[in-house]
Amino acid sequence: MRELLSRMHEWMTAYMKSFYSDDAEVQQGILIKEKHTGYVTSNCVELSKFLKLSTHDVQLAEIIGLFHDVGRFRQYSLYKTFNDADSEDHADLGIKVIGELEFFKELSADDYELVKFAIQNHNKKTVAPTDDARKNFFAKIIRDADKLDIYRVLEPFLAQENADKMPKFIKGKARPDISPDFVENFVTGEQADYRKIRTNGDRKIVRLMWIYDINFSWTMQKIVERGYIEKIVSNLPMDERVAEGVRRLKLHVEEKLSE
Ligand SMILES: [Fe+2]
Repeated sequence: MRELLSRMHEWMTAYMKSFYSDDAEVQQGILIKEKHTGYVTSNCVELSKFLKLSTHDVQLAEIIGLFHDVGRFRQYSLYKTFNDADSEDHADLGIKVIGELEFFKELSADDYELVKFAIQNHNKKTVAPTDDARKNFFAKIIRDADKLDIYRVLEPFLAQENADKMPKFIKGKARPDISPDFVENFVTGEQADYRKIRTNGDRKIVRLMWIYDINFSWTMQKIVERGYIEKIVSNLPMDERVAEGVRRLKLHVEEKLSE
């Protein structure tokens, strides 16, 4: 499969480059996604090696990482946005792109189904129920690998004074406050609905709540080491309720790290 993987890498590199544009804003978006693809692929490999998966399974995780956002490029060229709500779910779109690629048929039927399941479920609120433990397991790997890198992507835009520099496609409303229902979700530890984001504060809460959805201690360790939680928290408008949510979150982090 190593040989197939290198053809896949070659194809993906050329595919991403084919979306390069003279329009500075489009180019910025494409480059962010290209870099994200690289980091998520190596996160998948590192995490699955940490989990002591077989060589074959590490390679499956690598394929999933490499193609998890392949739908982003067609999404941008069709709709000029990376916002799924304004266009089409980019994971579902990715499955269509993958269906057009001949080399995917070189995978065994089981591996092909597994790769598609993980990619389709990488961005959903929860993983679709399945009896197949392997499918569920690989979906968990890509979800962790993806979130870890999104924390990296968003870091420079956390400070309110930088919120305006955010590219249009990830920009929330510039308001720094947190909507009351998002504060409530944060205190109770219930996943907030990202479609209801109204302010920049809401967006930060959604990113923080992802912490409850991290599956592996490896990922939590990296998130803590890189200080992503602290950086988001220090850029939140703070009051007693928000502080309560932060305490709850930190307790959860400690639990996960001790697994
Ligand atoms: Fe994605």
